[in-house]
Amino acid sequence: MATAAPSSPRKILLDADPGHDDAVALLLAHANPRIDLLAVTTIGGNQTLEKVTRNALGVLTLLGATDLPVAAGCTRPLVRPVRVAADIHGESGLDGVDLPSPGIALDPRHAVDLIIDTVMAHAPGEVTLVPTGPLTNIALAARKEPAIVERVREVVLMGGGVHEGNATPVAEFNILCDPEAAAIVFDAGWDVVMVGLDVTHQALATPEVAARVGELDSPVSRFVGQLIEAFGRAYRDVQGFDAPPVHDPCAVAYVIDPAIVATRRAGLTVELAGGHTTGMTVADLRGPEPTDCHTRVGVGLDVERFWDLVVDAVRRLS
Ligand code: BDR
Ligand code: CA
Repeated sequence: MATAAPSSPRKILLDADPGHDDAVALLLAHANPRIDLLAVTTIGGNQTLEKVTRNALGVLTLLGATDLPVAAGCTRPLVRPVRVAADIHGESGLDGVDLPSPGIALDPRHAVDLIIDTVMAHAPGEVTLVPTGPLTNIALAARKEPAIVERVREVVLMGGGVHEGNATPVAEFNILCDPEAAAIVFDAGWDVVMVGLDVTHQALATPEVAARVGELDSPVSRFVGQLIEAFGRAYRDVQGFDAPPVHDPCAVAYVIDPAIVATRRAGLTVELAGGHTTGMTVADLRGPEPTDCHTRVGVGLDVERFWDLVVDAVRRLS
């Protein structure tokens, strides 16, 4: 597939369920000059659709990203009941941070239609989809307008894990919420990069990271400081982490510079019928790396360059 010139910023649509780490993904996508953030869509996940949509609008208002379409998507997974992550993200989905009232009106379109319209309005190979929540909107967009599968440059998603789970011993939250949607996205035939827990559990917001952000001393840096503090408390209490893994911006960082996330090609299957393993992402890492496989899996993170990108994004908005 033809791709955009290497020097031009990467055009992305971010589909998110903010969420503390989704907020950092929005920040990085908005502030980094290598990204052209075309649109944001929301999906029920960390909290209900209504709550995460309000959070998305508040975060974008705080960041000054007020001139892009934002549309709300699906309230629930394709098949399974709604699942939220209140233990990690709180009752609001963004507990512990001060958000302004939204200064942006919601686009009247459904997120699925905004995804389709955005992809079809650009040349083939121009738009990258970056989902950082359950994959319901992306799966439905591919089903409603199959032409987007050919047209999208790649799907770079935060979700899954090869050797780790967080919502269950083997399943990651975004995939577990809507495993049927994830199966559709992995099987569609477009290029997919799965940035999962093997990568994101290295993106720890340590006290050193918090200090670098704090030194910038601006409304945006104070907001990120609050995020890290609240996220850190939840991850310590619920999952026993010393510092919180800031998952979602890892997918944006890969789009900015693929060298930041080490990947390898591997067939990916989502477990849909497991007694104890539903939502597990099964990566076939046997033998030599296949050459004809359209799915890649993240296996490592350049931690220093990742945090340099995030701190640089905060600095640009300070
Ligand atoms: C993923 O689940 C959500 O709670 C986070 O926002 C992230 O997208 C990590 O498993
Ligand atoms: Ca998320």
